[in-house]
Amino acid sequence: MKTFNSLVSEYLGGDLSHELAEEVEFSILGSAAQDFILRTLILMRQAGQSATDFSPYHTWELSTVIPRILPGSLGGIIPPFTNPGRHAVFDEYIRKKILVPRDQQAILIDIGCGFPPLTTIDTSRNFPDWKVFGIDQHFAPFVVIDPDGHYGCFAKDGTFQYMQPRFGAPDTSNFYADHISTKNRFKTAFNKLYPMLEIADNTTGFYEKDGYKLIQNPIKEFETEQLTFHEAEIDTCHLPYAHVVRCMNVLVYFKAQDRIRMITQAGRKLQEGGIFVAGTNHGSGSYRRYVIYQKQGGHLLPIEFAFSIDVLRPLSVVPWFTIHDDDTEATLLAELAYCIRSNSDYWQQFSARIDFLFEHHDICLRNDKGFLDGPKVQRPRQEQRKLHSDLWQKTKSEGFIGGAVDALCAAGYNGFENVVGDIAIRPGGDSRPGGDSSFLPLPLT
Ligand SMILES: C[S@@+](CC[C@H](N)C(=O)[O-])C[C@H]1O[C@@H](n2cnc3c(N)ncnc32)[C@H](O)[C@@H]1O
Repeated sequence: MKTFNSLVSEYLGGDLSHELAEEVEFSILGSAAQDFILRTLILMRQAGQSATDFSPYHTWELSTVIPRILPGSLGGIIPPFTNPGRHAVFDEYIRKKILVPRDQQAILIDIGCGFPPLTTIDTSRNFPDWKVFGIDQHFAPFVVIDPDGHYGCFAKDGTFQYMQPRFGAPDTSNFYADHISTKNRFKTAFNKLYPMLEIADNTTGFYEKDGYKLIQNPIKEFETEQLTFHEAEIDTCHLPYAHVVRCMNVLVYFKAQDRIRMITQAGRKLQEGGIFVAGTNHGSGSYRRYVIYQKQGGHLLPIEFAFSIDVLRPLSVVPWFTIHDDDTEATLLAELAYCIRSNSDYWQQFSARIDFLFEHHDICLRNDKGFLDGPKVQRPRQEQRKLHSDLWQKTKSEGFIGGAVDALCAAGYNGFENVVGDIAIRPGGDSRPGGDSSFLPLPLT
C-alpha cells in the first residue's frame, strides 16, 4: 500500500520527517485528491524540489483543503471560490499597460468571476470609469450566510452545492474539521428559511432568522451602474469588445483542447490591442502563474508568461495546482523554476536568504535534519499571510527578481521583470535549441 511518504520518496528521492509524513493519510483520500498529489509530486520533481521543501503548510493543504475543493470531490462542480484583493496585481498591470483613448468607453470582461464575485467588484471599484462585466457559467440561485459570514450555495431544487468560509475569518478550524456537520447546519438553515421566502423567478429577495440569511438570486445584489453580471459561457455571452478580458483560476479546470477553444473565444471578445489575462493564483493573490495575450492583427499573441517570486520557495502546493495531467502553464513554470534552481550562484544565495527570513519571521524553521518545522507561534491566517507577503516584498527590494531573470537569460530564455515586478519570459522568444513551443499565436478568425 502506497503511503504519502513512500510517494515522496519515489518522486523526490528522499523521505519526509516523521511529523510531516504522518499528516497526510494518502490511502483514505478520494481518487481526485490522490491524483492531485501525484501530479504535484511530478511537478515538484520537474522543478527540482526535494522532500525537504515540504512544510507543515503543505501537508495541511494536502490533508484539509485540497480534498474539499477539487471538482472530483464536489460532484464535478468547479468551485466559485474567490477572495477580495486576489487580483490586485492584475489591476495594477492594467493600470500600467492599458491606455484607453478618451473617446472610448473602457471595458473589462471577467470570465468565470465566481461567487461572491469579490475580485470583479474590486476591479470595478478600482476602475470606476470602466464598464465591467462579470460572467460565469453558473451563479448559485440561493445562498445561505451563517452568523460568522460563512456561506453555502444551493440549487433551485434545494440541493446543496458548495460552501466556503468567509475570507479573513479568524478561525475556520471547526468549519473544515467537521465538514459534514457544517454542511448539515447549512442544509437545516436552508430548509427552515426557504418556506418563508417569497419566490418568483429572476427576482432577488432574502429572509433572515436566528442569524442566518437566505438570499435568492444573490448575484443581482452586487450589480451597479458600471458592473453587471451574466450567467453565460464564454462563447454565448454577447458583450461589447473589451480592452481587457480576464479569466483567472478557470482554464486550469479544462483539458488542453478545451482551453485553446476557450482562449480563442476570449480573444474574439477583445478590441485590437486589448489583452487577455489568464492563469492561476492562491486566494491571497500569491503563488501566481499567468499568461498575458494581446490581440494583434487578427491573432492572439502570447506576449508574456509570468510568475511571482514566491513560487520559487513555496510554502503551498498552489504553484503546482492542476486538475489535468500535462498542464502547459504548470509544466512551463516547473521548467523555469528548475532552470533558476540550477543556477547555483543565485540559488545558494537566494535559498539561504529565504531560510533566514522564514526563521527570523517565525514562518518556519529548518531543523538540524534539514526539514522545515512550523512556526513557534500559531497566528491567525490573515496575520500569517501578511507576514509572508512582507517577506516576499523584502526579497524583491533586495534584487532577487533581477537575479532570477538573469538566471533565465543565461539559460537562453528571453527573461525580464514585468511591469508588476514578476519574473517573466516572452513565450517562443528564447534562443534555446528547440525553443519553446508551448504558447503559439492563435488565429481568431
Ligand atoms: C475558482 S472560480 C474563479 C473565480 C475568480 N475568477 C477568481 O480567480 O478568484 C472558477 C469559476 O469559473 C466558472 N467557470 C468555469 N467554467 C466556465 C466557463 N466555461 N464559462 C464561464 N465561467 C466558467 C465556475 O462556475 C467558477 O465560478
